[in-house]
Amino acid sequence: MRRFVAHRRWAPAVAVVLCAAAFVAYDVGPAHDARPAWAEPVRNATIVIDQGATRKGFATPEVTVSGGGEVTVVNLDSMDHTVTSVADGPDGLPVFDVRVKAGTTATVPGVAALAAGEWAFYCKFHPSMRGVLTVVGGGGGVEPERPSFEQPLVVPPTKRGADIRLVMRRSLVRTMPDGPRTSMWTYDGTYPGPTIRRRGGQGTKVTFVNRLPRAAGSMSTHLHGDHHEPQHDGQPTTHLIRPGRSRTYDYPLTVDGRPEPGSFFWYHDHRMDRTARNNWRGLQGMFIVTDPPTPGLRLPTGARDVPLMISERSFRADNQLTDPFAHGPRMVGHHGEMAWVGPHAPPDDATVGDTVLVNGRHAPYLGVSATRYRLRLLNSSPFSSYNLTLSDGRPFLQIGTGSGLLPRATVRTSVLLGPAQRADVIVDFSGATGRRLVLESVPAAPGLTGDDARETAVMEFRVGARARDTSRLPARLPSPKLVSPVPTRVARTWTFGLDGNDRHGTFWSINGRAFDPERVDHRARLGTVERWRFRNTSDVTHYVHIHAQQWRTLRRDGKAPPPWERGLEDTWRLEPGEEVEVAARFTDYTGAFMIHCHMLDHEDHGMMARFDVMP
Ligand code: C2O
Ligand code: CU
Repeated sequence: MRRFVAHRRWAPAVAVVLCAAAFVAYDVGPAHDARPAWAEPVRNATIVIDQGATRKGFATPEVTVSGGGEVTVVNLDSMDHTVTSVADGPDGLPVFDVRVKAGTTATVPGVAALAAGEWAFYCKFHPSMRGVLTVVGGGGGVEPERPSFEQPLVVPPTKRGADIRLVMRRSLVRTMPDGPRTSMWTYDGTYPGPTIRRRGGQGTKVTFVNRLPRAAGSMSTHLHGDHHEPQHDGQPTTHLIRPGRSRTYDYPLTVDGRPEPGSFFWYHDHRMDRTARNNWRGLQGMFIVTDPPTPGLRLPTGARDVPLMISERSFRADNQLTDPFAHGPRMVGHHGEMAWVGPHAPPDDATVGDTVLVNGRHAPYLGVSATRYRLRLLNSSPFSSYNLTLSDGRPFLQIGTGSGLLPRATVRTSVLLGPAQRADVIVDFSGATGRRLVLESVPAAPGLTGDDARETAVMEFRVGARARDTSRLPARLPSPKLVSPVPTRVARTWTFGLDGNDRHGTFWSINGRAFDPERVDHRARLGTVERWRFRNTSDVTHYVHIHAQQWRTLRRDGKAPPPWERGLEDTWRLEPGEEVEVAARFTDYTGAFMIHCHMLDHEDHGMMARFDVMP
């Protein structure tokens, strides 16, 4: 089996090789050598991890070693880190991988066997820490696996009825191109679960039956992005779906008496403290609210409208999911609130998979005609961000968020999506007949202060012949109305941070507190418009998601939001130090709703708050 997580880039490497070689040579070269250090190949090299590495990355992100040499890792930080190759070997495991405990030194295994070239590496616990190990001269015979796309993309079965029944059960599903199938917790036997397609205004009832192993406990399903009553929202601690029982959720697909706009929603488990685990095991599916018929709007449809759920997992050699939650942090009471202790307590609780799946399959390919396609992109990963590009630089025309069309289509060469974020894009494959284009994720644009995107191939498009294409791309899109006017006063500031202490444990916090389902953190009145502000005082990125309503983004760091953030939105990237302001009118429903970070470990470990809409 071939499994890959990355693409190596050769072109920009040369400059890196030269300066890294000089740097490392001075560092470890013999002290009394009169010859210029840069002229000498570097036999052994050192990767240094300094204090604050989760923020600052590796102190030596570029390291060069001569073939057959040795690489030592010195960890001066107070946290454990790993040096893990991005590239996998033939066994599907990283080519090198070493955990370096706080304050210790370790040797990277297998370096002497590496072929000459560049080997990207990262820290599994803190994936924004990344570097490149360059092997120069005659190295060993180990080459990374090249991307290969061996299985076709599968689009999950579609359900279109007004009454839908989905049985949650354990099933064997195909994830890898060969070897055993993977045992997952599924909605109705597939991962992702069936894609539900309904027109706005078509009331829809979905009954979820819990036939999962009893030990999995009660479940709660949230239709992410949709507007419905609180008892149908997938509450974290109430209205649960107990083992052996079922619950029917009622989704009218209306807002304020009108049909919901065309949207790309998704449904997933939302059980308190178990959301990351339950999603990892497979409880995820897509839900498309189709566009109302609009004269002049002819977007690609049918087989040319493809939902793509990108999500990552880690697998054992027998294709079974690893269990990153088996030794998770322990919850402790702390002044009536919760905190977490143990080696994976916040901020060391990032669940990152090493294998990327699209619609549940690793490295799939899709045959396309040389025409326009509508791709609905969803990142349902627990933690990682993807900055999506096409390998030939072909742009995406972004026409919508997951929450409706944008007022104007916007051309993008890369689309950054964090957990739960969606983008509705058109790709025109004309002119690419006979070519294979790779959808890949590349490190995000410089200027990002928070966590970077993964570097990995995602899937392949095999472009066939031209075909009849009647789609049209209007410059102005029939996008949903945004709330206006908006108050100038901020009704609520939500501050995302990290709190706790060594004695009592740590927690991800909103306004200094960990989630308490009994505590109401804000009250908003039905029918009013509120302006909310998010702030991030921690040193990592968060993705803020609000239930109940769709929002208008007013400001990002005091400025007008970028063009792709000018439609309705429910999940925002929030960099360290950033401030985002949003507004919405509270309509239709009173009761309890959630605001939380959609990095699922953060959500499970405190970063959630409750707001109530009052009559
Ligand atoms: Cu997608 Cu509160 O979740
Ligand atoms: Cu977060």
